[in-house]
Amino acid sequence: MTVGPQDEVSQELMPDRSAAEPDQEPGRGPTEWLDAPVGVGPHPLPWPTDPRYDPELLEQGDRRNVVDHYRYWRREAIVADLDTRRHPFHVAIENFGHDHNIGTVVRTANAFAAEAVHIIGRKRWNRRGAMVTDRYQHLLHHPTVEDLVEYADRHDLVIVGVDNVPGSVPLESAELPRRALLLFGTEGPGVSEDARTAAAMTVSIAQYGSTRSINAGVAAGIAMHGWVRQHADPAGAW
Ligand SMILES: C[S@@+](CC[C@H](N)C(=O)[O-])C[C@H]1O[C@@H](n2cnc3c(N)ncnc32)[C@H](O)[C@@H]1O
Repeated sequence: MTVGPQDEVSQELMPDRSAAEPDQEPGRGPTEWLDAPVGVGPHPLPWPTDPRYDPELLEQGDRRNVVDHYRYWRREAIVADLDTRRHPFHVAIENFGHDHNIGTVVRTANAFAAEAVHIIGRKRWNRRGAMVTDRYQHLLHHPTVEDLVEYADRHDLVIVGVDNVPGSVPLESAELPRRALLLFGTEGPGVSEDARTAAAMTVSIAQYGSTRSINAGVAAGIAMHGWVRQHADPAGAW
């Protein structure tokens, strides 16, 4: 059935604003909202002797948000292993306002094994959405776009702005460079003038609704997956 503008939206489809929000403890993330603990309990004896294993986790169990391959591993061992599997793309997000999307960007960059995440502007950012994934991710801070550009030049990275601005090309058909540094803007103003000038190309995500733009964290996920579809080996995914 096609719903036209003349059709009334059924009340059943409207959000129930009277329903109480789930009673969530502040500071706990979505994977911790469940009553049953996630992860694994204490490791059965005998324990593995590989130095990558953490005796404390083996003894107490591992409730961290990590894939099974890394269960009971020390954090440094996980980072070292990820360093052998990271993809050659980087991600940058401008932090000129109070942006709550940076945690989401960091978490997604971790999921797609981006080489590094760059924060431009303010150093402080809200880590909640990162769900602790920032511990396993290389994070770099740049006070200015100019500083990021110098980094990109030194590391042979091509800056690709991501925003729906005049002059951008559709992400859906764009060829993303393998050594791409995908740069996202702040909620509100979007990618800054300096960043737009610095970008070798800017890509936009096609939209079909009434909103001017999508959430920066969502846009980052779509753009990163665009890179993954073009350059990553599906056989290497978990
Ligand atoms: C909420 S948008 C704000 C700017 C937007 N250009 C506007 O006119 O409203 C914040 C960031 O999300 C990303 N973004 C949102 N929608 C996008 C789209 N359709 N295509 C590409 N990036 C988008 C961009 O990185 C942008 O800088």
